[in-house]
Amino acid sequence: MARVGMPRKFVFVCLNERPEEHPRPSCTRRGSGSLFEALREETGRQGLVDIKVVASGCLEPCMVGPSLYVAPDDIWYGGVTIQDVPQIVEQHLANDVPVEFLRIGREEFELSPLAGRSDLPPGEIPPA
Ligand code: FES
Repeated sequence: MARVGMPRKFVFVCLNERPEEHPRPSCTRRGSGSLFEALREETGRQGLVDIKVVASGCLEPCMVGPSLYVAPDDIWYGGVTIQDVPQIVEQHLANDVPVEFLRIGREEFELSPLAGRSDLPPGEIPPA
């Protein structure tokens, strides 16, 4: 049996879930559970034993979820769908080329959860 050793990359997948009425969206309600399973299946199918797909709590860019973080590359992805999984695995995880159209940056972390919800004062937002 082959030894796996330390993973070459970790893929953190947000599996946080909030109540439907919460002002911030949550990745599980946007399909991150299926995304997590698809990433695990595809990395396995491609034999990438040195890639570890990890279930995570909220990663913070909730407004553009489902959110992924790839370490140690320091690459963030947002709005990821099941259809994007083969490209992420083949292009980035196997061949180290990030999928540019899915990348998010500092701006997406700073999107206000109150956008479109001016009825809720800032102090009323429940914690993540
Ligand atoms: S709920 Fe997924 S990033 Fe916050």
